[in-house]
Amino acid sequence: MSLLSPALDVPPEPPSKRQKTLGASSSVSNNALESGSSSPEITDLAEQLDSQERDKYIKGKKLGSGQYADVYSAHLVSDPSKLVAIKKIKVGPEVKEFGISYDSLREIKFLQELDHPNIIKLYSVFSTKNQNLNLVLEQLPQGDLLKLIQDTQNISYTPADIKSWMLMLSRAIWFCHANFVLHRDIKPNNLLIAANGEIKLADFGLARSFADPYQPMTYNTITIWYRPPELFYQTQYYSGAVDIWSVGCVFAELIAREVLFRAWPESEINMVKIICEKVGTPSEDNWPGVSKLKGYVTPTEITPLRSRDYWLGAFRAIGDVGVDLLMKMLTLDPRRRLTAEDVLRHSFWTADPRPSRLEDLPRKGGGLEAMGEDLKRRGGEVTVSSNGRGDKVARKLDFESMKK
Ligand SMILES: Nc1ncnc2c1ncn2[C@@H]1O[C@H](COP(=O)(O)OP(=O)(O)O)[C@@H](O)[C@H]1O
Ligand SMILES: [Mg+2]
Repeated sequence: MSLLSPALDVPPEPPSKRQKTLGASSSVSNNALESGSSSPEITDLAEQLDSQERDKYIKGKKLGSGQYADVYSAHLVSDPSKLVAIKKIKVGPEVKEFGISYDSLREIKFLQELDHPNIIKLYSVFSTKNQNLNLVLEQLPQGDLLKLIQDTQNISYTPADIKSWMLMLSRAIWFCHANFVLHRDIKPNNLLIAANGEIKLADFGLARSFADPYQPMTYNTITIWYRPPELFYQTQYYSGAVDIWSVGCVFAELIAREVLFRAWPESEINMVKIICEKVGTPSEDNWPGVSKLKGYVTPTEITPLRSRDYWLGAFRAIGDVGVDLLMKMLTLDPRRRLTAEDVLRHSFWTADPRPSRLEDLPRKGGGLEAMGEDLKRRGGEVTVSSNGRGDKVARKLDFESMKK
């Protein structure tokens, strides 16, 4: 696989250049990023190819929606047994201004390059009227991990099941990082489940390349409950460690069946507080250099780093080796946190119990339509969603940073 070009992330080209380069009205199947000429003949050809692609599918019922997209089931006209999912990106203000949705661009760019069994597949792209971009994705009919975690009435699962899901997630993240891609939105409802039980990492709308270590990045990213302390302290130079923290949060949430760091009322200050309470207060001792970070606030109360016994008390179900892995993913200092490769080398995967086989993993009971509101959990700058899972993420602010 080729190295990914960081061209689509911060700092962006000036808007005028971006618009010209990206060709607002002419997305082309499997090649949406290369369309560009404004000559009438080429635009006509692009539109023709576009409509050819569009006409290959018959759209059916809605499978789910997030803040930035509605996702529909569809099948191929030529073979109704072949199902896909069509992710229709909602038209935001940047589309009106620049003719393109940055979220969809990120998603297209990275999904085109990342071919892995635990990463959702992008088959093609087409546009519809009003410059709506549509991503044709593999259909993942078994819902998402959040649904399983929350359905405590009907779904029970074992440490071996958790190990199996976590191994698939860890492989996906390792693959992203090996290709210099940060996902930046790992959370249970972006982990979709295929018909055969495989976990697929989805929703690359906040992803970016981190191939250039000198390129500052936004700290206002990752859904707040899954966001690592270095981003709350406003570091602009970070690495795969940010995703590993989110993976640790998912691990803990799978075990306890509740969000690990859930601040109430929801704010960045309260998130730092709860991280200090549950992990320990960051200090120069446990995180050299932390006090130099721009957003660092000298704590008024100090909680010493939590001991292994403390973690075992809360997460004993996953065993000693599992707790060891969890603690190392949730290490405050990002330089001491495990890398994705370290995670895969950890002895947890080979310790008893063995990870469950795909066919033995629990499946959701209810219909897809039951997913509804929970899945729209990402947006909202200030408000907390009605189900209390206030997952603020600064997609909007992230977009702003792309303009700077
Ligand atoms: N390929 C797919 N197959 C089945 N359902 C999907 C698929 N992609 C997305 N969904 C459903 O739609 C929801 C929103 O999709 P997502 O890509 O997360 O959009 P957003 O970027 O708006 O968050 C998901 O949580 C999931 O329930
Ligand atoms: Mg999503």
